[in-house]
Amino acid sequence: PFPSSDAWSGFVAEAQKFLPQSNSRLALLAFVNIPVFAIVINVLRQLILPRDRSLPPEVFHWIPIIGSAPSYGNDPIAFLADAQKKYGNVFTFVMLGRKMTVALGSAGNNFILGGKVANLSAEEAYTPLTTPVFGKDVVYDVPNEVLMEQKKFIKVGLSTENFRSYVGMIEDEVSEYMAHDPSFRTFQMNDINEWGEFDPLKVLAEMTILTATRTLQGKEVRSNMDKTFSKLFSDLDGGFTPLHMIFPNLPLESYRKRDAAQKKLSEFYISIINGRRDNTSTNDETDMIAALMNQHYRSGRALPDHEIAHIMIALLMAGQHTSSTTGAWTILHIASRPDIADALYQEQVEKFSNPDGTLRSPTYDELKTLTVLDAVIRETLRLHPPIHSIMRKVRADFPVPPTLAAPSKDGVYVVPKGHFVLASPAVSQRDPTLWHECDAWEPARWNDADGEAQKAFKQYADENGEKVDFGFGAVSKGTESPYQPFGAGRHRCIGEQFAYLQLGTLITTMVRKIEMRLPAGMPGPNYHTMITMPKTPRTITYRRRNFD
Ligand code: HEM
Repeated sequence: PFPSSDAWSGFVAEAQKFLPQSNSRLALLAFVNIPVFAIVINVLRQLILPRDRSLPPEVFHWIPIIGSAPSYGNDPIAFLADAQKKYGNVFTFVMLGRKMTVALGSAGNNFILGGKVANLSAEEAYTPLTTPVFGKDVVYDVPNEVLMEQKKFIKVGLSTENFRSYVGMIEDEVSEYMAHDPSFRTFQMNDINEWGEFDPLKVLAEMTILTATRTLQGKEVRSNMDKTFSKLFSDLDGGFTPLHMIFPNLPLESYRKRDAAQKKLSEFYISIINGRRDNTSTNDETDMIAALMNQHYRSGRALPDHEIAHIMIALLMAGQHTSSTTGAWTILHIASRPDIADALYQEQVEKFSNPDGTLRSPTYDELKTLTVLDAVIRETLRLHPPIHSIMRKVRADFPVPPTLAAPSKDGVYVVPKGHFVLASPAVSQRDPTLWHECDAWEPARWNDADGEAQKAFKQYADENGEKVDFGFGAVSKGTESPYQPFGAGRHRCIGEQFAYLQLGTLITTMVRKIEMRLPAGMPGPNYHTMITMPKTPRTITYRRRNFD
């Protein structure tokens, strides 16, 4: 909001104290007038000056350069949905000097996520954030065709065979955690009448990193979790924030820690690779390092060790907050709906009961048949997709199809080179015109074969539907679906199956062991982090279910 005149006079009086006495009037005039002048020009430019009709409408803002950054930063979903009502599905807003052109709805998702490499670049949008954290020569530090090959290498490690061996490992880690971590002290007391409490975000973050390191990252990383690794991860993570995306290099402590941690982690992974080469007896590992150590680019060049190390860091970062916050939101919803918690438990009782009444562990293939579990995760990802904005930089003028938005019957909008484009499946996943009771968490909507959820899912992941191969194996086209928690097109997530396996095993294991409640009700979302997390208060109360 524009500052009130009282606030402005107070500000001017304060400013006067700091100005030098000589020429103070002139300096004060300049000090006060330049910003005012800039604001006035900015407002007149928007209200009076004729606009280039090929440019999409611009969201009104008072302060130049800053633009709509505060509104977008505080609540991007409300900001985008509000602007959609005023300007339609395609509009531009100013954010810290950047022009961000948004395209919403299923057609908007398709426009951006299905855009061609000639027009749109993910690497130019993300590299300032990701390259200092992941390291050189991987992901967004390389041309798109190289990333596509690297995704193909990663997919080798994400095999069904590997996944089959992971379920038991994840269950083990969760059980060990609940048996020993102080968050579950009441559980450890073996009294089913005693209620304890835990913070789901903290618990899920710890369980996620323990299970990811035990499975994908490999035993050397897992065994260093209590020592050097978790400190380095935390320093690196401190460099993965919206601030670091906007200003990639500032002389601040978090940047220095980020750079030092990246270097040390890279060396750590390279030492693991060298250790494995020297000791061929450990070559039967089912983790990602083992898969990446055997890969060659199409040119015949072997994947170098530093690239393996940096891909491992990228996977750690890509999977950690996305999976852990999804897990935290899921557990929060389950705690707030004892009827669904009961349905999840009964599903396991039906499928995995031993003759003595205890529950046996599911296999990977069995886990995939649990329909209540599946609906619970899908519905959580609908309401809380961890990534609310997907961005690209426009590298060549990009015409908007008239079916999506047009200035007049004959014209088209053109998003000019240099703009950023932004898709937000988070908005289409809550669109009231598409989803029945769009803001309610209702897993049952996924059971209706003819309902809106299954229709959207069919467009997203239909096994028999249209497939495209961008160089990392055929994927469902999916760009036109209103439901895209894992993105779509050439940058579509390749961690989806792993995330389902990890979350599914984590949730089934927890639901078997404890009953949960959420006395304070569902927390709101915090949008100030890269990934949308639940705010406080978010304490879950729990009690032990049985003595298995
Ligand atoms: C890409 C979401 C877990 C690795 C993406 C994208 C989204 C996403 C939305 C597309 C980004 C874009 O188009 O700009 C999620 C969610 C997850 C999850 C919701 C969990 C619930 C994982 C895990 C891994 C992973 C566990 C690794 C094991 C990747 C990779 C990409 C990706 C490598 C490709 C980036 C690209 O091609 O540009 N993810 N992700 N993700 N994700 Fe995930």
